[in-house]
Amino acid sequence: MTDQAPKQATLTIDGVDDPIELPIYSGSVGPDVIDVGKLTAQGYFTYDPGFVSTASCDSEITYIDGDNGVLLHRGYPIEQLAEKSDYLELCYLLLNGELPTADESAAFVDTIKHHTMVNEQLRSFFKGFSPSAHPMAILCGVVGALSAFYHDSTDIDNPEHRKITAHRLIAKMPTLAAMSYKHAQGQPFIYPRNDLGYAENFLHMMFATPCEDYKVSPTIAKAMDRIFLLHADHEQNASTSTVRLAGSTGANPFASVAAGIAALWGPSHGGANEAVLNMLDEIGSVDNIPEYINKAKDKNDPFRIMGFGHRVYKNYDPRAKVMQQTCHEVLEELGVEDNPVLAMARELERIALEDEYFVEKRLYPNVDFYSGIILKAIGIPVEMFTVIFATGRTPGWIAHWNEMISGPYKIGRPRQLYKGYTKRDYPS
Ligand code: CMC
Repeated sequence: MTDQAPKQATLTIDGVDDPIELPIYSGSVGPDVIDVGKLTAQGYFTYDPGFVSTASCDSEITYIDGDNGVLLHRGYPIEQLAEKSDYLELCYLLLNGELPTADESAAFVDTIKHHTMVNEQLRSFFKGFSPSAHPMAILCGVVGALSAFYHDSTDIDNPEHRKITAHRLIAKMPTLAAMSYKHAQGQPFIYPRNDLGYAENFLHMMFATPCEDYKVSPTIAKAMDRIFLLHADHEQNASTSTVRLAGSTGANPFASVAAGIAALWGPSHGGANEAVLNMLDEIGSVDNIPEYINKAKDKNDPFRIMGFGHRVYKNYDPRAKVMQQTCHEVLEELGVEDNPVLAMARELERIALEDEYFVEKRLYPNVDFYSGIILKAIGIPVEMFTVIFATGRTPGWIAHWNEMISGPYKIGRPRQLYKGYTKRDYPS
């Protein structure tokens, strides 16, 4: 696992004579970790539901300082990446650890462009789904099904196979995402175009039809690229941990990523961007906001302000700041600065940032608070929001899976505090 342990923790347990020495490891930055691996041999498990105090692995990909609102990918702050880089360059950085040279970048972009089509047979898969199916249900299914089409690259011990799989997933995800949308619309699928940029091509596959081309505005294409970039990775979140856990069994990467997509779907995770828009719809107008703030504060009411709060950030989510700026750019371009949904979002943010309940619990807007408003303004239906999050998060999932598979790893297998019946006999 990690290097030597210059520090030790001593655990004294009532009734046990010898204290247990536990090694402490330091990372390059962030909290130290106590290695509890040898507790099992002493007859104890650690207990940490929700993994709030548990580091599940070593990683060199992404660092978050939630108290100070810091997010670094391979050391680079997200604000700088959003300003100076783009999504495909970030994909390269996440996968390879360093920014590409100009030649490496050109080769990577070219490779991704030449993997955007999916096997024609995959089209028949879509016919099996009801047009009313949620696009996340379709995406889980078809991404898992990729392993049935591309088994020439599923030898997880072969680094070249892993690389091809990473390229295939990053390249094909927007194609599959757009196909999920077209299926629900009852429109023909639109093939990818290699002369377009990554985000531009996605918008083309979403909105063009065989009868009419779709002209992608540079501001909208840039906003879409930023949405992908801001979602690209977020260290050991629920879906990434799911990808690692599924992958730790030796499952192929397409199946592992499909598991991650399922984990992302929930409203506490990637489903929050969809939930934000549904919530704003339910609130209806700025006048009703105080009532909903009170509902959120009521312990007996399950209602929460979607797009607020984060397990790790106890400060403004740095991605939300960039997203807020992009939101204004998009609404200005589309001439909808007076958008009533945005007005509600702004008022909700203003009240929540001043309200004692939210301030005390350190609940700030997260990335999903603004991304939904941008996507809606672009004309993307609400049920596609989490699919877009999944598309953006793909390089993160693959980078973490690859990092795990490249080093020594164990199958992920947590234990439990059993509270059920003790042994009893079957009735005779
Ligand atoms: N509205 C009202 N109260 C809240 C909210 C909220 N959005 N979020 C947390 N709280 C309260 C919660 O009731 C609890 O109060 P108490 O201490 O009195 O019991 C306290 O704040 C701590 O919340 P928690 O649920 O124990 O914290 P957590 O770390 O387990 O949950 C969270 C984090 C993101 C699931 C939660 O904040 C939430 O449900 N937010 C709304 C959903 C959302 O926006 N999710 C997207 C996360 S960002 C995208 C991503 O990375 O996936």
